[in-house]
Amino acid sequence: MLSEGHPLVDGRTSHSALVRAYSGERTDRLPVWFMRQAGRSLPEYRELRVGTAMLDACLDPAMASEITLQPVRRHGVDAAIFFSDIVVPLRLAGVDVEIKPGVGPVMGAPVRTAGDVARLTALTLTDEALAPVAEGVARTVAELGGTPLIGFAGAPFTLAAYLVEGGPSRDHLAARTLMHADPATWQALMTWAADVTGAFLRAQVLAGASATQLFDSWAGALSLADYTAHVAPSSARALGAIADLRAQGVRAVHFGTGTGEILAAMRDVGADVVGVDYRIPLDEATRRVGAAVPLQGNIDPALLAAPWPVLEAHVRDVVDRGRGAAAHVVNLGHGVPPTTDPDVLTRLVDLVHSL
Ligand code: CP3
Repeated sequence: MLSEGHPLVDGRTSHSALVRAYSGERTDRLPVWFMRQAGRSLPEYRELRVGTAMLDACLDPAMASEITLQPVRRHGVDAAIFFSDIVVPLRLAGVDVEIKPGVGPVMGAPVRTAGDVARLTALTLTDEALAPVAEGVARTVAELGGTPLIGFAGAPFTLAAYLVEGGPSRDHLAARTLMHADPATWQALMTWAADVTGAFLRAQVLAGASATQLFDSWAGALSLADYTAHVAPSSARALGAIADLRAQGVRAVHFGTGTGEILAAMRDVGADVVGVDYRIPLDEATRRVGAAVPLQGNIDPALLAAPWPVLEAHVRDVVDRGRGAAAHVVNLGHGVPPTTDPDVLTRLVDLVHSL
């Protein structure tokens, strides 16, 4: 149950453009936020992060909260997204994981065999361990007023891809091999990942997040058949961790990259909103998922560095192609590149709000 003081319950965010759009309502103001809006594109972020490792920053409630608020103050976006990382729940469960600058999440050892998975799944994620996350969210929400906070988590496949590979990989070969070579071990790994990531998501919502996003960033590496048989049930299980809270109005966005072929299957795990990357236009996405589904996306991040008239024309096209969806939340087709000029993002927010 959401508490009385939750922003969706006390009315602070329930009528916001973002929450209404996620519920399928067209609003006067077209809501916009950016994946990775908090981070290296902002000088104030780079300054604050000096001397603090990424995961330590995520687990420092005051720092995580300040970083979450920075892009809201600067750009006037319609949502904050909690500054954290998809591997935070792994670290809190006791997994040896680090985020290497310029590389991404790296495990102390890959999880490859039935024995490795048995050792991993013996770890549990407690509410006490999640306390810094809940505190970071609560502090942030206290500052945000009517701007909703989005809580997020990695989907089980994307987490499993890092765990099995031991770090970032191109084709996620080892993970896809395990899925077929030892389906029982794969299932045990995915179920554990679903429960850990589901607990992380639930902690953020209970502490005040008004909406959620499940990132299955690497699901586009899968065939539709593999996604449906070996991955989708675990993503549904992760979202199941907040089923009671969703009944109270907490919406869930489901996003991945290169997911054009599996877009309808990603809707079918129980998402309210489908996040679309830049590879397919939104009118085509609507044909694939149906006109009843609100969409989020899908400005090509590469165009943030193009001359303004080129970017503006692209943004207008994205918005036009989004008109066939039940509702549209403007976002990028993937995260903000670290080299982005933050003033371009601010100008983009103003443009979207003027359309
Ligand atoms: O502003 C936001 O969007 C919220 C914060 C956020 C981060 N990571 C902060 C971060 C979110 C939502 C994520 C999710 C995340 N983390 C995903 C899913 C989204 C996606 O991009 O597909 C994935 C796959 C990860 C794993 C991860 N963590 C990667 C690939 C990297 C980048 C490595 C690098 O240095 O290029 C990270 C590190 C990370 N997570 C950074 C930030 C701001 C950069 C670290 C730094 O600032 O030093």
